[in-house]
Amino acid sequence: RPPDLFRPERVNSKGWDLRHRTDLDGFHAARNRFKSHQWVVTPTIAGEVWAAEAREVHSPSDPSEIVGYVSHTTPEQVETALKSARSWAGASAQERSDTLNRAADLYEKSSGEIFAALSREAGKSGPDAIAEIREAVDFLRYYGAEAVRLGGFQERGVISCISPWNFPLAIFTGQIAAALAAGNGVLAKPADPTPIVASIGVRLLHKAGVPLSVLQLVPGAGSVVGARITTDPRVNGICFTGSTGVAQKISRDSAERLEPDATFIAETGGLNAMIVDSTALPEQAVKDIVNSAFQSAGQRCSALRVLYLQKDIADTFLEMLFGAMDELRLGNPWDLAVDVGPIITEKARREIQEHVDTASRDGKLLKQVKYPGQGYFVGPAVIEVSGVQDLEKEIFGPVLHVALFEADEIDRIIESINASDYGLTFGLHTRIDDRVQHITSKLNVGNMYVNRNQIGAIVGSQPFGGEGLSGTGPKAGGPHYVKRFKKLNLPLNAV
Ligand code: NAD
Ligand code: ALA
Repeated sequence: RPPDLFRPERVNSKGWDLRHRTDLDGFHAARNRFKSHQWVVTPTIAGEVWAAEAREVHSPSDPSEIVGYVSHTTPEQVETALKSARSWAGASAQERSDTLNRAADLYEKSSGEIFAALSREAGKSGPDAIAEIREAVDFLRYYGAEAVRLGGFQERGVISCISPWNFPLAIFTGQIAAALAAGNGVLAKPADPTPIVASIGVRLLHKAGVPLSVLQLVPGAGSVVGARITTDPRVNGICFTGSTGVAQKISRDSAERLEPDATFIAETGGLNAMIVDSTALPEQAVKDIVNSAFQSAGQRCSALRVLYLQKDIADTFLEMLFGAMDELRLGNPWDLAVDVGPIITEKARREIQEHVDTASRDGKLLKQVKYPGQGYFVGPAVIEVSGVQDLEKEIFGPVLHVALFEADEIDRIIESINASDYGLTFGLHTRIDDRVQHITSKLNVGNMYVNRNQIGAIVGSQPFGGEGLSGTGPKAGGPHYVKRFKKLNLPLNAV
């Protein structure tokens, strides 16, 4: 039967509602237990915990704070993991689904610990961390239901899951949950800066009943551990989320070594644009721009990078935007009032600030919020450009580029966005219905948002993924995703 994306019985995770005193008190008590906790992450391979040389994990908000220790997986340990990796075909689809649902419950019960790790290791703001835990829980339940719906099809075998640091729980968990739902085994490599959040997820998945040989954790550098587990013929598929350049490298390298029918899913970056015309409601549009460009310190693949603003309204609109930016609170996100947290590493901070400084030298910097504190912070900035074509690459931070346009230039803008070959998110603020129809029917992007912000897709309601250089599809959190982890001799939309 056709997939029922909007299953009436499906509900998303409630998360913490901090407007209620009891939730707020419970939340503080739960996270405060882990305020100075130091986690220890080791590879979990062949049912054993393997320690090697431990490295310190520091907080990006305050690099003097040690959040824990991680042992990178040695080449010999990776070989053991590859040898002992098993599919989960021994369990029925219902058993797999029940296990993923149990894991979802455990994630919710452990949300104080996870929140603390997201805040301290990944620099996530309070609302971001709460939303991320909800999204991870949603992935577990949504793909758990897909396990049963697609139960009749054969699993592929073993999948290497490679995830980014910017959603160290939600994307890490979503990839694993989809692969497991389909009956595969998983080798999970978290991103280098965020092994702690990932290891909490793996611990809870094992506790829920995922066998140790079915889910193995192999922390380490992408160029070492990641490269090894994506080029070994014992692996039957790769599920990657990260930058476009790394996806292209993995695609090239794995093509030579993996079986021709191995699956390759890549969700990557974007040069995401928004058009705001002179009919937009400025108060709403400014709020949505600030949210889309600067929430998560701009460290979302979906974040707004290039704002096309109609010239007629630009002066007053930019004045409002700059005023709103001055209200943003930067700082250590353990403080729940903080809006913009740190950049993940000092190297990334330096590169983003260099981009802003170059614009400043060229006379193109329109605004940058100052932040005098310690930690890896970049003040939200606005740079003048002529369009997406001026950006050589995705700037993964709180930097908004603004291009002004005349009323008759909409088709030219559509052409240049399409010509960038990226196609992840797009936003539009207008009150002209025909224009909505015209623009959305012509743009090649995965997710479009009209008269709202353009971040924060919801599992099961807004399947998320890009086109062109932004991703191979299928969209995460949608009815075609788990199918790619199965051996199907049917067109994707046939089940
Ligand atoms: P990245 O490409 O640097 O790293 C992603 C993962 O790949 C990490 O685990 C890394 O260790 C690993 N890796 C690096 N080199 C490898 C290799 N040669 N072989 C195998 N694995 C390797 O990306 P990042 O900095 O962690 O994350 C930010 C990027 O992710 C941004 O470009 C962002 O747009 C993108 N992203 C996309 C989505 C999406 O859904 N489309 C979601 C989140 C992030
Ligand atoms: N799914 C995430 C978002 O929509 C990346 O922001």
